[in-house]
Amino acid sequence: MTYPIRRPRRLRSSENIRNMVRENQVSLSDLIYPMFVCEGKGIKSEVTSMPGVYNLSLDKFAAELAGVVELKVPAVLLFGVPAAKDFEGTGAYAEDGIVQKAIKTAKAAYPGLYVITDVCLCEYTDHGHCGIVKDGDVLNDPTLQLLIKTAVSHAKAGADMVAPSDMMDGRVGAIRDAFDEDGFEHIPIMAYSAKYASAFYGPFRDAAGSTPQFGDRRSYQMDPANGDEALMETALDIEEGADIIMVKPGLAYMDILRRLKDEFRLPTAVYNVSGEYSMVKAAAANGWVDEKRIVMEIMNGFKRAGADLILTYHALDVARWLKEEK
Ligand code: PBG
Repeated sequence: MTYPIRRPRRLRSSENIRNMVRENQVSLSDLIYPMFVCEGKGIKSEVTSMPGVYNLSLDKFAAELAGVVELKVPAVLLFGVPAAKDFEGTGAYAEDGIVQKAIKTAKAAYPGLYVITDVCLCEYTDHGHCGIVKDGDVLNDPTLQLLIKTAVSHAKAGADMVAPSDMMDGRVGAIRDAFDEDGFEHIPIMAYSAKYASAFYGPFRDAAGSTPQFGDRRSYQMDPANGDEALMETALDIEEGADIIMVKPGLAYMDILRRLKDEFRLPTAVYNVSGEYSMVKAAAANGWVDEKRIVMEIMNGFKRAGADLILTYHALDVARWLKEEK
């Protein structure tokens, strides 16, 4: 009888030894929790397609933040759902816009909480596109001016970091320039660098009411069939001053995550988007999968693929589960 010399099972035989040789670990400091704030009072309205995710008016938002801080999730990503929308998305850069107010609310109550804002126009435009529309297309350079105004207004309100998600060409550089000129040179930019034109954003558009009223986003977001293009997009963002790069969505783009991490060696984030969340929630609600195990497996997958940061609607659950394990 010849015995196998290498027996990988030796290091799998107990919880202790498995923990000792584990290569990747999800930790609290990896997590960024996306939240939706809306005008009004006393509003905590669950997004139909995203159980456990809410549109929150500022009072309820503050209450919810208490839980985030309590669980030691270090950062939130804010999205605004304005009361009114218009052609140029003026609510995105209004001094008393919903996100601007939410930043102030959050920083006043929890100065140590790291507040990141999504910089985009689609939640604020009546047509639902991420910029200025002319003849059915989104104009790149005029849109940059509005993105600059939006990012600067977030910085003025006290945001710790901004995350442009619009996919206009040159937006990272434009925002970097404006920040440096206005005294916000210390504020980092997390760029949605490889952001694909994905059907996985469906439930988010329910939450934010940002479904395009005509056409789609394929003239600015990336073609899901492309991989090399993600390297080019990301290289541009880095040249323009991005501090953190991001891949979005996550699950169908793990290869991109690994390639960007290997190529650029920068802090790399992955956005575990709304549709990915909703699929897990729906299957779990039916008893078809074990929610905790599935979610942790997904989180571990992101870490293995090279993610330093994970933006996820599961963040509070993950934080709770990590705590239970201790
Ligand atoms: C804004 C934006 C979107 C998401 C993040 N920022 C929607 C979109 O591009 O249509 C999607 C997030 C998610 O699906 O969870 N442009």
